[in-house]
Amino acid sequence: MDVVFPVLHGTFGEDGTVQGLLKLADVPFVGAGVLGSAVGMDKDVMKRLLRDAGLPTVRFLVFERSSLEDVNFERVTQALGLPVFIKPANLGSSVGIHKVKDGNEFERAVKDAFRYDNKILVEEAIQGREIECAVLGNDNPIASLPGEIMPRHEFYSYEAKYLDDKGAVLEIPAKLPDEVVKQIQEIAARAFKVLCCEGMARVDFFLRHDREVIVNEINTIPGFTKISMYPKMWEASGVSYTELIDRLIQLAIERFKREKKLKTSFS
Ligand SMILES: Nc1ncnc2c1ncn2[C@@H]1O[C@H](COP(=O)(O)OP(=O)(O)O)[C@@H](O)[C@H]1O
Ligand SMILES: [Mg+2]
Repeated sequence: MDVVFPVLHGTFGEDGTVQGLLKLADVPFVGAGVLGSAVGMDKDVMKRLLRDAGLPTVRFLVFERSSLEDVNFERVTQALGLPVFIKPANLGSSVGIHKVKDGNEFERAVKDAFRYDNKILVEEAIQGREIECAVLGNDNPIASLPGEIMPRHEFYSYEAKYLDDKGAVLEIPAKLPDEVVKQIQEIAARAFKVLCCEGMARVDFFLRHDREVIVNEINTIPGFTKISMYPKMWEASGVSYTELIDRLIQLAIERFKREKKLKTSFS
């Protein structure tokens, strides 16, 4: 085996566990290492690091199962307004995510989110466009032209992503003024570094009032079919699918060689 290209999603696939296994097996692999993968998977840690770096993020609160009594509809909506989004901290594909507009929905959504994780996030709902940007590289990552997702459902839910063929319209590249494109690319590359990513990642944004750029999340193993956003955004930026794969493999080998040079014991 020369290189492993993990095209896996969710728990055990992109949360650092498979990446740890590959490190132990001493095999080069594509994409974020153990830390970047784990950080990218945990929406709480991810958003705290982004916020700490001064990058624009959504306002959010975190609740753990052990402090369930703190989850109070009045207090939460006082802080974040309505509607709010409720989501499990570690997951993806919009599983367990709910947009909540009243107290009843709130109770149900909190219960459902806790089915998937011991930690949940409540976020202010952002009204605006959903823009994504592909990032490629190790130390000096580059960002693609952004693309836009226009969900045909209330939000980009599991149904809109996977069950409904017409669940969303994709526009690549997104129709945006040059200065907004530049701002998104800069923030995407900074988020990639701040979140300890390597190789590839897709950074997802909200664009409020057509100018305020807010980071929603990072995906360390973005969808990778020929029609997925990550390869499509690179294609629109002049990097073909085959060239993209070549570059990612090259980056994996480079990272592996660099890490090999490090001293890992005192013997
Ligand atoms: N704070 C928010 N404001 C507005 N829409 C949101 C918010 N959080 C999530 N969404 C909607 O839910 C979708 C899935 O949420 P996201 O945080 O990206 O989770 P996942 O990791 O499952 O993709 C987003 O693409 C968006 O449509
Ligand atoms: Mg998402």
